[in-house]
Amino acid sequence: MKKLYFILFLFTGIISGNSLKAQFEYKDVAHIFYSRCTSCHHENQHAPPFMNYYQTTLPSYALLGNLTSNTMPPWTPDTTYTRFQHEHIITDQEKNDLINWINHGELAGDTTLAPPAPTYPQYQLYGTPDLILRTGTFVSNASTDDAYNCFSLATNLTQDRILRAYEIVPGNAPIVHHVVVNIDSMGTTTSSLNGSCYTITGDVGIGGYAPGAPPTVFPGQAHLKAGIRMKAGCKLVLQIHYPAGTAGQIDSTQIRLYFYPVGTTGVRPVYASVPLQNWSLNIPANTTRTFTANATNLFNTSVFATFPHSHKICTSLINYAYQNTDTIPLIKINNWRFDWQGYYTFRNLVKIPAGYTLYSSHFYDNTVGNPYNPNSPPINVFAGTSTTDEMLFDSFLWLVYQPGDELIDVAAILANDPLLAGVNENTTPNLISNVYPNPTSDKLNIYFSKKSDYKISISTIEGKNMLTAKTNEDYSQLDVKNISSGLYILQAQDIKSGESFSKKVIITHK
Ligand code: HEC
Repeated sequence: MKKLYFILFLFTGIISGNSLKAQFEYKDVAHIFYSRCTSCHHENQHAPPFMNYYQTTLPSYALLGNLTSNTMPPWTPDTTYTRFQHEHIITDQEKNDLINWINHGELAGDTTLAPPAPTYPQYQLYGTPDLILRTGTFVSNASTDDAYNCFSLATNLTQDRILRAYEIVPGNAPIVHHVVVNIDSMGTTTSSLNGSCYTITGDVGIGGYAPGAPPTVFPGQAHLKAGIRMKAGCKLVLQIHYPAGTAGQIDSTQIRLYFYPVGTTGVRPVYASVPLQNWSLNIPANTTRTFTANATNLFNTSVFATFPHSHKICTSLINYAYQNTDTIPLIKINNWRFDWQGYYTFRNLVKIPAGYTLYSSHFYDNTVGNPYNPNSPPINVFAGTSTTDEMLFDSFLWLVYQPGDELIDVAAILANDPLLAGVNENTTPNLISNVYPNPTSDKLNIYFSKKSDYKISISTIEGKNMLTAKTNEDYSQLDVKNISSGLYILQAQDIKSGESFSKKVIITHK
């Protein structure tokens, strides 16, 4: 009998591959932390940093728990239903590799063999903003409860402008849980800073900030120029959520705005609205309930982004549009988490024809089985704006449809947007070990992590090729002195494996 067990063990070992595989060391998993975690987990953020071996080994039990429960990386939209830009996801392979590394004692190995850590600039958008608004020094008032404060900031715009992009930069990121932005076109709102500003005033919500969130950028190139109109004299209202226990700590958050130049023509307006609302929620203690909302889509629309909203009793939701048997999926969240809500930008504009019905359904679990139930024991919960009430409040950013919209690849346009400086870096972080000097005026040295056949190019952020080179060594030196000053994209591809890498490089001639 003993023998049989042994054979079985060996057999399952081979199938799972784990027990026979060479054990992972930090150098084998560092790239997973860098590509899947450190956008949020770096220094001075709300999440603890995972930028080196020492930092990743600290919360080992937590690591495993968060990974196996799919809590981290936090991404609640169901990727089998619809896909969005900037998804915080991890592949099964990467997750298994991490779990394997953790289960085998988080071996350090030679940590100097790990790929270089990515760098996170203070600002994600390039160029100089047209307007920077700040909350001013604010001392958090969140002692035993979370605090919500609304800062009403005058833009002092003397003429209407069209918003092309904005970025919210917390002054003290570890204590800023999230920020929601509304435009107050009339400019009449005032700040509400007593910690209970649950209803953010203003007329149009345009998005916000959450840890790891990218800046909001509207496509600004020939075949799709879009933006949100901001009226002269308008204010921006920032609702900032400071978590309990942060009282006394100081924050000064800024919003950095980029406008289209005055007089730019052909910019299509982006509208924000909340067509799906239900204010008759009534969820008795110890029950579960489903509530819905619907609205007729009056004309052809192109949906840019979606922002479904509920509080802590809600556990799942779905939005779609339909007519007869045709259904257009919008968003499905199977494990709604108040803490991880956000604006989700579609990869392509989603056409919803006139006459279709927009539909929302939210499921509420007001029992002790809901670990996020704010009341213990549960109490009757009704619709309301306080976080202990409930909401069904699903909003969208959208454009008036134009033929061909559904074919526009918004993700591709934004990938080449000069404000975002082109490309995602570190597509294969372990392909290149070093590029320097950067900025450079003359020579650019590229060190690969191994010898292979490489194809190298330097192009403008609009994609115009400036220089190509080849090497079959692990090193190459490019002469860039004839390329004019500017921001460029260095791309390298391992011709044998197909792996590629891209990095921003700056050329400056004084
Ligand atoms: C979108 C941002 C984001 C991404 C991406 C992300 N995290 Fe997190 N993570 C957070 C935040 C924020 C917290 C703090 C949670 C809180 O305070 O509620 C956190 C907390 C954690 C914790 C708990 C830490 C502690 O001290 O208890 C672990 C462990 C963790 N994350 C692991 C990971 C791993 C592993 C990845 C990548 C595979 C990852 N996270 C990706 C935002 C992120």
